[in-house]
Amino acid sequence: MGAPRYYLLPVLCCLGLAGWRPPEEKAPMHMNAPRWKLALDKALAAHPKATVIQMASLDVNTPVPHVRSLVFRAFISLTDDETHPLLLATTDVRSPKTTQLIANPNVQVVWWIEGAQEQYRIAGTARVIPAPSQALHKHFVHTLVELQNQPQNKKRVSEFDWEAKRLETFRSMSPYMKASWCRPVPGSRLEGGQDEAKRWPVEVFEPKDGEDTSSWDMALSNFALLVIEPREVDHIELAPVPNLRTRYWRTDGVWRDEELVP
Ligand SMILES: Cc1cc2nc3c(=O)[nH]c(=O)nc-3n(C[C@H](O)[C@H](O)[C@H](O)COP(=O)(O)O)c2cc1C
Repeated sequence: MGAPRYYLLPVLCCLGLAGWRPPEEKAPMHMNAPRWKLALDKALAAHPKATVIQMASLDVNTPVPHVRSLVFRAFISLTDDETHPLLLATTDVRSPKTTQLIANPNVQVVWWIEGAQEQYRIAGTARVIPAPSQALHKHFVHTLVELQNQPQNKKRVSEFDWEAKRLETFRSMSPYMKASWCRPVPGSRLEGGQDEAKRWPVEVFEPKDGEDTSSWDMALSNFALLVIEPREVDHIELAPVPNLRTRYWRTDGVWRDEELVP
């Protein structure tokens, strides 16, 4: 991890560049992507490998927050404009985070993009969207409450084809990743030890006509989308001197922002 670039201050002061920001940014917040998303897009375009995020959730049975790494897959939008970007990740529907999110969908994500020296701390709600055959599918899809409460978004949101998205995302995964959803329940005791683990499939490929479909079917039935709906974003930029910190929050469908002391 790189340290904040305080050492740049004298150089930037000499050049008269301390505190300088590109003149791009105050786009109308109600029509387009929020500014935090534009900044994140820019950081990711420059550092496309920085896709590991950490997401914390709460378990009703313990006061200790649970945090884990996830791979950010893409932004998706359920609406016709870009005002409401959702973060897409994936998971095994049987993992403990699913139970935690049923009881309490509030999460916080932290995303450190080292190359850009930027941290995004994103508070919001998370939903796990498994196969439609699972009871949980209905539960999570119907709890996209905030979006559904906005009359202008209602139609498009209810029309969104979650299963098509799930299938498309599953197909894009490597054979090695697909095999990971054929293992026993994540976090359960490894009863048979490493001898058992050696019998798990290592790669799963889409079966051709007449081939055995059992591994593919099993992986697909455990595979779930994890959709995070941001509500507030705390963005810290350590590269500029002085450092910058901006809070973005969404009320009545509109993103607002204010500068904070870093
Ligand atoms: C770099 C990295 C990326 C990971 N990506 C994912 C992911 O995209 N989805 C996922 O469910 N788990 C991912 N994991 C594993 C999780 O961190 C976690 O161990 C697992 O999901 C079980 O979490 P839970 O017990 O809180 O449900 C990743 C782990 C690492 C180290």
